[in-house]
Amino acid sequence: MFRNIALIAASALTLGSGVALAEGTGGHIEDVAFAHEGPFGKFDQFQLQRGLQVYTEVCAACHGLKYVPLRTLSDEGGPGLPEDQVRAYAKQFTVTDKETGEDREAIPADNFPANTNAGAPDLSLMAKARAGFHGPYGTGGNQFFRGMGGPEYIHAILTGYTGEEKDEFGSTFYENHAFATGWLRMPPPLSDDQVTYADGTKATVDQMSMDVASFLMWAAEPKLMDRKNAGFVSVIFLLVLSTLLYLTNKRIWAGIKGKKTA
Ligand code: HEC
Repeated sequence: MFRNIALIAASALTLGSGVALAEGTGGHIEDVAFAHEGPFGKFDQFQLQRGLQVYTEVCAACHGLKYVPLRTLSDEGGPGLPEDQVRAYAKQFTVTDKETGEDREAIPADNFPANTNAGAPDLSLMAKARAGFHGPYGTGGNQFFRGMGGPEYIHAILTGYTGEEKDEFGSTFYENHAFATGWLRMPPPLSDDQVTYADGTKATVDQMSMDVASFLMWAAEPKLMDRKNAGFVSVIFLLVLSTLLYLTNKRIWAGIKGKKTA
């Protein structure tokens, strides 16, 4: 208990010193204030829709999302697309039918397709597989206050290119400050105005990176909001229960402790 208090105090001190950069996966990961963070945080539905657009128009060329069911795009708390739009969206993908073994258009009951053509990792769980922040004894950021930093890591990778590249072992590597080794095989995927957002949001690299990072966080943890709600309800329940138990206890002992019952 005291240990925890000491840890929280230490974290608060580190935060107080105003350090904006966190050392995590090896590179520099900057904190981003995502809408879904904090005890009452919710995914921003419009941001998720923009992130889906960036994933579809850019990332899907190389990366799959094979654990994410297409139908969840209409879930409340997610991008919240109407069901007919999800059906229309699914049609653009081709999947191999498990029963007939034949290729067909995807339907909402299918998952997003896998994609291994470019040797790129699947992004379904990426936002939870990488930790931008380490804590509680981190230098600067830590997981108590800022979360794991998974979406921050994705944002940092997408905005962390220096423009340098080199050829080694028969592949081209691109310099990126956020990547642990400083060099990765993914060419910078985003440039300003690469997508056109229907809601008029300006598609800067920074904006698209935040949107797609938020979308990938939802993909990795679609029930985040349900989980927070359940937690909130249990805290209220425990508070009410504690009050009732306290009052009951008082009444039971009232006679013995010499106080009058009401
Ligand atoms: C041209 C193909 C291509 C495109 C387009 C592309 N990626 Fe990648 N991506 C790769 C490859 C290849 C790797 C593996 C890099 C490596 O391990 O060196 C990778 C790796 C990653 C990683 C993992 C880094 C790590 O820690 O291992 C993330 C996150 C990522 N991509 C996100 C994205 C997002 C988000 C988009 C869309 C905005 C995107 N990528 C678009 C090819 C691509």
